[in-house]
Amino acid sequence: MSLDTLEEIANYIVSDGKGILAADESNPTCGKRFDSIGVESTETSRRDYREMLFRSEGMKGNIGGVILFDETLRQSSEDGVSLVNLILDQGALPGIKVDQGLQPLDGHPEETLTQGLEGLGHRCDEYFGLGAKFTKWRAVIKIGDGMPSDQSIEENMQALADYAKVVQQSNMVPVVEPEVLMEGDHTIDQCMDASKRCLNALFNSLEKNQVNLAGTILKPNMVTSGSLSANQASIDEVAEKTLECLKSEVPSDLPGITFLSGGQSDLSSTAHLDAMNKIGGFDWKLSFSYGRALQQPALKAWLGKEENKPAAQAALSHRALMNKLAARGEWSESLEK
Ligand code: 13P
Repeated sequence: MSLDTLEEIANYIVSDGKGILAADESNPTCGKRFDSIGVESTETSRRDYREMLFRSEGMKGNIGGVILFDETLRQSSEDGVSLVNLILDQGALPGIKVDQGLQPLDGHPEETLTQGLEGLGHRCDEYFGLGAKFTKWRAVIKIGDGMPSDQSIEENMQALADYAKVVQQSNMVPVVEPEVLMEGDHTIDQCMDASKRCLNALFNSLEKNQVNLAGTILKPNMVTSGSLSANQASIDEVAEKTLECLKSEVPSDLPGITFLSGGQSDLSSTAHLDAMNKIGGFDWKLSFSYGRALQQPALKAWLGKEENKPAAQAALSHRALMNKLAARGEWSESLEK
């Protein structure tokens, strides 16, 4: 399969149920994950952990792309193979997070605007030279008193569209991630409303910027109840409302939609994805771009110990396979045993 054009790259990443492994935690975030298992976060321990993940058997056939942090894109394995080549050997494409984090939004200090447009073209050209085939930019939208504000949606969705335009000029596929946070006690209908407003503004901005949608991947949240809500929607309701939202706002020429897990458990993330693919009735591939929901069981099995690496790799391989099956609507809970 040739992977020269943006369309070919985007289609490959989500082909046959494959999805994305999000391993692009910034160093502070990786530090928090490692704190939870009592491992010190250093350049070497981060490399060892990610090398272990990328060498897992279950990467093959289940993972079409891996999103990396800047440091990882430049690292080599203990025996001197670049991590980029390890990923390619597993049949996955390397990608890179290019946003530079969040700043308070002018006039709305509780909300944020994602940074990183300045100098983006230069950074993208370098990343392309280092082997990156795709990129990610995450906008964060909060639900709460008076939130999300129109300004937060407008400015964040415009930044996503500006990012996507620059990235495509550097011959990489943009993954556009408008994340409506799950944190809070809001209802699923409030999440639906905020998600629709975001996606509507996002696709208007992408169109205005003449971004090639056939060479773009959307990474949205699912439409769920807030994590602190006493009234949690069922798997079927999440699946139905998420599909309703996407069908009303996302053009059908987009090749793939890969969800973030956003704090859902590994099993819920898989069950929701499977339920949507069992319902069907859409033109895009509906798959995953999970960070925590793919890595958490592997992280817990690893605990920073050499002798635990096979168990950690088996845990990642299992989740990768389960999510690939879910992306094909072929998962069932009995396969988890
Ligand atoms: P989670 O799946 O842990 O939400 O991470 C995905 C991601 O890349 C967030 O930007």
